[in-house]
Amino acid sequence: MMWSMTQPVPDNIISVRELSKVYLMGTDSLHALRSVSLNIQRGSYVAIMGPSGSGKTTFLDILGCLSRPTSGEYWFMGRKVSEYSEIQLARIRNQEIGFVFQNFNLLARSTALGNVELPMMYSGVPRREQTRQAIAALEAVGLGDRLHHRPSELSGGQRQRVAIARALVNRPSVIFADEPTGNLDSQSGESILALFDDLHRQGHTIVMVTHEPDVAARAQRIIRFRDGRIVDDTETAMS
Ligand SMILES: Nc1ncnc2c1ncn2[C@@H]1O[C@H](COP(=O)(O)OP(=O)(O)O)[C@@H](O)[C@H]1O
Ligand SMILES: [Mg+2]
Repeated sequence: MMWSMTQPVPDNIISVRELSKVYLMGTDSLHALRSVSLNIQRGSYVAIMGPSGSGKTTFLDILGCLSRPTSGEYWFMGRKVSEYSEIQLARIRNQEIGFVFQNFNLLARSTALGNVELPMMYSGVPRREQTRQAIAALEAVGLGDRLHHRPSELSGGQRQRVAIARALVNRPSVIFADEPTGNLDSQSGESILALFDDLHRQGHTIVMVTHEPDVAARAQRIIRFRDGRIVDDTETAMS
């Protein structure tokens, strides 16, 4: 596939070209990503698989603007974010990206509502409107009756629902999820996956890391990593 030198194809919400990430540890350097190139279309549902240590989290963190590549280009929504400063990346992260982690990453001392309101803190949205939108996001994930519960008072599946509501509340362009069902029993995992299916049907772009084949099979496309490289990129029966 030829790359445009000026801007990526508009349908591609994500374009990376020859992306590499090297971790320096003392005198050693670890090549976590080696010249990765790919496009992801707006509205698609993509699974990333591969053995432990193959670079999945490193890749997702760069796509989610949580970290930056050592070299190569990353275009997000037509913008070359690989050249963005930390402050510019933070703005993109806050406005365009929702992130869901394996361990939920909720604030233990805040309620479900407080956790979901957090991303709107610097949005300029009036306080009462923030609360209204956070409640709507929690209702959308089936937690309308758990607004004032703290994470310790919720089950694992409910905690991940709070995290998904938090990821959705700023209406992101893409949702990134790193092993979102990895800490859940199969029944709550299934309900979280059903939620991602719904989000995809509603038009969200989803990029999910998983090592479970039956989870990946729900996506339209499976990209496999090994030793920091893409070794396979296949459309599924869902595509
Ligand atoms: N912050 C870091 N510092 C040093 N090495 C790291 C760091 N994060 C990840 N690595 C290394 O980079 C490689 C890829 O890790 P990771 O992206 O977490 O893989 P995966 O998510 O596929 O298990 C591994 O060898 C890992 O040990
Ligand atoms: Mg990982």
